[in-house]
Amino acid sequence: MLVQATQGQSGSARVVVLGNEKGGSGKSTLALHIAVALLKAGQRVATIDLDCRQQSFTRNLNNRRIWARHTGLDLELPEHRCIKLGETMQIADNESAEFQQFAQAVAAVEHAFDFIVIDTPGSDSYLMRLAHSMADTLVTPINDSFLDFDVLGAVDPTTYSVTGPSHYSSMVLDARRKRRQLDGVDTDWIVVRNRLSTLGARNNHRLAVNLKDLAMRLGFRPLDGFAERSVYREFFPRGLTALDDLNEATLGTRPSMGHVTAREEVTGLLRQLKLPLDERGRRRAANRAEWFAQVDKPLELHDIVGV
Ligand SMILES: Nc1ncnc2c1ncn2[C@@H]1O[C@H](COP(=O)(O)OP(=O)(O)O)[C@@H](O)[C@H]1O
Ligand SMILES: [Mg+2]
Repeated sequence: MLVQATQGQSGSARVVVLGNEKGGSGKSTLALHIAVALLKAGQRVATIDLDCRQQSFTRNLNNRRIWARHTGLDLELPEHRCIKLGETMQIADNESAEFQQFAQAVAAVEHAFDFIVIDTPGSDSYLMRLAHSMADTLVTPINDSFLDFDVLGAVDPTTYSVTGPSHYSSMVLDARRKRRQLDGVDTDWIVVRNRLSTLGARNNHRLAVNLKDLAMRLGFRPLDGFAERSVYREFFPRGLTALDDLNEATLGTRPSMGHVTAREEVTGLLRQLKLPLDERGRRRAANRAEWFAQVDKPLELHDIVGV
């Protein structure tokens, strides 16, 4: 449905990291949408929340679990873990405890799952850096403003031209270089513009030009993501995504045009992320969809008596 297929995955899960050194850019929202999209495509998905303070990803998934139980709906859920922050007075001890938990969480799932989706906090931390250096795919959502662009690169106030990478970009480049040296893997870095507004078109155009410029320099793929839509905020209490069957049963209210458009843009974005799908999982999902379609039809006599 949404993503590209690859042949011959190594049997080790592909790691998808959501990262940006700034809160409120859409990391947790995208993490949930990517995880659910992959589950719907028949992939085996594990998820890890490294944003130990906010835990939006974890709370979203908990809400989803509760809503599924309450309604009896079959809402897909990943195998999820949330890493707890070390609580001693010693930074080194805390980092060591966090590392242990993280390493165990990854080891527990990496061979039995196709994907590990990791959400990270909006601040520089030890775990956040570790996750960036593990990423096969790094997705960085940014809000559509110069303030958010600043997280990636500095802009000259007179000419609007990009003058250099930011602290976060330099960290990503460093993590990428180390990864390449370690096992030759080149992280696919994707910067997604989120909360796109139809207003302020002139600034948007400048941002798009600057983003392209920076993409060439830093080696990421710039993509247009989601528009600013209230439906994304409304999904949280039930842990829903734009990809779920949006009817009165799932939503608890009638779907709007906003839901339909949101689904289209989410599907489009996921296709462009080009996450390599495991073919067997994809076939399983297709067969299941066909089975559901069959079951949905009224039974005919020959189905019952086998004639
Ligand atoms: N495209 C969007 N339109 C409207 N609200 C959005 C959109 N993307 C994210 N949000 C909302 O913005 C807030 C921050 O998003 P979140 O995913 O938690 O960001 P982060 O994890 O980067 O801190 C949340 O309330 C979320 O529902
Ligand atoms: Mg978050």
